[in-house]
Formats: sequence, C-alpha cells, structure tokens
Amino acid sequence: MKKILMVCLGNICRSPLAEGILQSKLSLEDFKIDSAGTTGYHVGELPDKRSIEVARKYGIDITNQRSRKFAKKDFEEFDMIFVMDKDNYEDIIAMADTMEQQEKVKMILNELYPYEDMSVPDPYYGGDQGFEKVYQMLDEVCEIIASKIRK
Ligand code: 4NP
Repeated sequence: MKKILMVCLGNICRSPLAEGILQSKLSLEDFKIDSAGTTGYHVGELPDKRSIEVARKYGIDITNQRSRKFAKKDFEEFDMIFVMDKDNYEDIIAMADTMEQQEKVKMILNELYPYEDMSVPDPYYGGDQGFEKVYQMLDEVCEIIASKIRK
C-alpha cells in the first residue's frame, strides 16, 4: 500500500482539502492518504468551515478529519510527503534525520509546475474565494498525482 501525507501550517484549511481530493481520485484499498500540520494550533479540530463547504460543493466530505501535528514518525510511515508552501517545506526538512527522509518531502505544486517552488496560498485570513481558488489548484495537481501513482 502506498502512503501519502499532505502537510500545511494548521491542518485545517489546505491539507485537509488535499487529503479529501486525492482520496476521491484513488482506491482506498491501495492507498492511505492523510494530512497533518507543522503547528499544533488547531489539534483535534475539524477542518475550517470554509474548507468543509467548498469540498461539499464538489461532493467531497471532509468532516471525518481532525487536525493533528506532524511528527517525526511520519517520515517512516509515509512514502511521500507533499507540503503546501515554502515555510512548510523548510519546517519539515528541518525535522528530517536522513537524506532518504528529506527526499520524501515535495512541494505539491512542483507536480504541476516543476522546479518553480510555487506555494498554495494560505486562505485562512481571506474570504470564501480564496478557498475556491485553493480547491481548484489542489484538484488540478491531485489529478496529476493520482494518475502518476495509480499505475
Ligand atoms: P492551513 O491554514 O495551514 O491551510 O490549515 C491555516 C490555518 C490556521 C492558521 C494559519 C493558517 N493559524 O494561524 O491559526
């Protein structure tokens, strides 16, 4: 079974959407998809209401998710760790003990725009439009990730 972890800052806005969207494109018998935050600010909480709403609009239920903080053992548990932005990348890389662990960490939008190191913008302090935009970006990149790993 291939295991993929999505990571953002709070694990309530972006990475829960990435988790739900990628899950919706793959067979859960063959893949484990999870998400986590680099901080513990929202541990135990549901995803942000705006993430729940935009996912629901496209037929995806993410209300089973609860925020958790990234832990070192995630480097062992997961095969690929996709981060949403440069800060997430630096925070996770700093926790890696080995090159093998570092190599698991990738900026998610590099799957769509290779080597550009583009970030998925943090929608937390904006309005609903930011969540729609983030949803569309993640849907596009998760389609690429799913078609790559399905084989
Ligand atoms: P996320 O968004 O990293 O996409 O879950 C945020 C959630 C919470 C905070 C910032 C970003 N916060 O500062 O509490």
